[in-house]
Amino acid sequence: MNRVEGRVKVTGLATYAAEYPVEGVTYAYPVQSRVAKGRVRRVDASAALAMPGVLAVLSCEDPPRLATEAEGELALFQSRDVAYRGQLVAAAVADTYENARAAADAIVVEYDQDVHDVSLRADHPGLYRPEVVNPAFPSDTEKGDIEAGLDAAETTVDVTYTTPVLHNNPMEPHAALALWDEEGRLLVYDTAQGTSSSRDMIASTLGLPKEHVRVVSRHVGGGFGSKGTTRPQAVLAALAARAAGRPVKIALTRQQMFDVTGYRTPTIQRLRLGVDSDGRLTALDHTAYEQSSTLEEFAEQTAVPARVMYATPALRTAHRLVRLDVATPSWMRAPGECPGMYALESAMDELAFAAGIDPIELRVRNEPETAPDSGLPFSSRNLVACLREGARRFGWDRRDPAPGIVREGEWMVGTGVAASTYPAVRRPSRARVTMREGDFLVQVAAADIGTGSRTALTAIAAGALGVAPDRVHVELGDSDLPEAPVAGGSMGTASWGSAVVRACEALKVNGTEGVADTTDEVKQDARLARHAFGAQFAEVRVNAVTGEVRLSRLLGVFAAGRIVDPVLARSQFIGGMTMGAGMALMEETLTDEEFGGFLRRDLAQYHVPACADLPDVEAVWLDEDDGELNPMGSKGIGEIGIVGTAAAIGNAVHHATGHRVRDLPITPPKIL
Ligand code: MOS
Repeated sequence: MNRVEGRVKVTGLATYAAEYPVEGVTYAYPVQSRVAKGRVRRVDASAALAMPGVLAVLSCEDPPRLATEAEGELALFQSRDVAYRGQLVAAAVADTYENARAAADAIVVEYDQDVHDVSLRADHPGLYRPEVVNPAFPSDTEKGDIEAGLDAAETTVDVTYTTPVLHNNPMEPHAALALWDEEGRLLVYDTAQGTSSSRDMIASTLGLPKEHVRVVSRHVGGGFGSKGTTRPQAVLAALAARAAGRPVKIALTRQQMFDVTGYRTPTIQRLRLGVDSDGRLTALDHTAYEQSSTLEEFAEQTAVPARVMYATPALRTAHRLVRLDVATPSWMRAPGECPGMYALESAMDELAFAAGIDPIELRVRNEPETAPDSGLPFSSRNLVACLREGARRFGWDRRDPAPGIVREGEWMVGTGVAASTYPAVRRPSRARVTMREGDFLVQVAAADIGTGSRTALTAIAAGALGVAPDRVHVELGDSDLPEAPVAGGSMGTASWGSAVVRACEALKVNGTEGVADTTDEVKQDARLARHAFGAQFAEVRVNAVTGEVRLSRLLGVFAAGRIVDPVLARSQFIGGMTMGAGMALMEETLTDEEFGGFLRRDLAQYHVPACADLPDVEAVWLDEDDGELNPMGSKGIGEIGIVGTAAAIGNAVHHATGHRVRDLPITPPKIL
């Protein structure tokens, strides 16, 4: 199938949050803190309020009313305390965007400044063990005796990797348009990965019954997690519209996004591994150090994927968090799995090299029978098949394991491999299907953030009804539709699709309408360990003179259940792999130690891969038949593509050069 919304997108007719034409619309523009820590002493809005077209100024001088439940990044202007540089401390509302922006510039904010601390260190005195890590995993786990395992090992590695702050950077910047009606009901056109959850969050922040809030996000230009939780612009638009008595639109700039829409925490990760003379793990110890803000605790589940990967008698995972004077980190594509598997799969490569075992063989020898943490059987697990198929396609048997020996002129050539994994989870969802004049209307508050959800759900409904796809119309992206979970955690299609299939089955029984709620069905899922797996292969050329790394080949082989739509799936996989290539070689946000906040706040300085950076990237998948998952037999595909990619590339750089870079991104100065 072609994308059902393809035509409206390429002709510019698809309407995004900032684009809805609204009579009498006005604009808000935020003011950001210039200090990283301290208190707002005074806000002088007199000059701003005297400027042409200005309707209102919001700040902590006269805090707008919010619910007592309002917290964290959404509790706008409720406190004089400044938690980080770039935090929203005021906003101007005016008749035009330009007037709002000029007025915001004219607002004078005075601060009492404190000494800030924005630096993550593994020996930071403020480190503590969080109760749980995202979303609700125990922070630490321990099975067996790590020290005994390491003592008994033939070969060990004890290595530390660091990953930088990374920013999601979806193509469409975050925006919101808020309208209040005369009964005090609020409509927000938002850039949201989930309208049900965004409605709930906006309602609880403003202290409104959720029936009085509607969130519409019919088209969303990417999110990668940064639109998975409600962002300040949605609350600010609602507050500004209430203050101005007019509809208010906010479109964040790319620079503002870097401060207030989340980011991937930097990590410091220590791995200690041991193997016996047969190449079997004797111990796996993974500790992750990471940061959050003083506003909210967000603890990334960085060491959690190590709990499902390999058989070992001793397995320990731990997270340590420090609250710094920084913005709150959040979800970024495969939070946890992505940085965690970078470190684990790099360490596995170091262990293979140290033990003189082929890195694919090392992984194969340590395949677990059941999930190493829970002991649950896997619904399906085809990591070995992915590694074998990838090795065949990539020509792994022609590889000489010795590093630094293949040379083409100035270019040193090397190859690397890493494993991928991502949970295959469902959440409860509702859906409704109605027959109308021989066609079928499918309604579910799902989100299509550019992944093609409309198209996938059309195919799923057509299959369940046994009709041609052109008779199925999917309506999504509106919280007035049947409640549905967020497009996140690679669980959108599995969650919404299950509800759509059940609603179609109900329609076939009832005649003209079917409704479904999968709450009870999803409860059964905990009986099995459910994960997708994959294998990533990379070939790099490293310039011996300049240290430049060119990625000449990237291959991903995935086992992700039944693939609902091959075209969409390939895009998801290679999109994830491309983002993983960016993580390996270029993406990095620098923290400003002196003034707080971030340096590099635009796409001119935060480099992401372009087509020329990836001349040959391919993703394929195995036909995995897993009847335990959901009615489609599918696993999520949105995130696994980014997992393991950076490790495969780093491992290839080592193979090319003999030099191990343990600090991402792998830039020329770290190679030379
Ligand atoms: Mo994704 S980071 O689960 O939106």
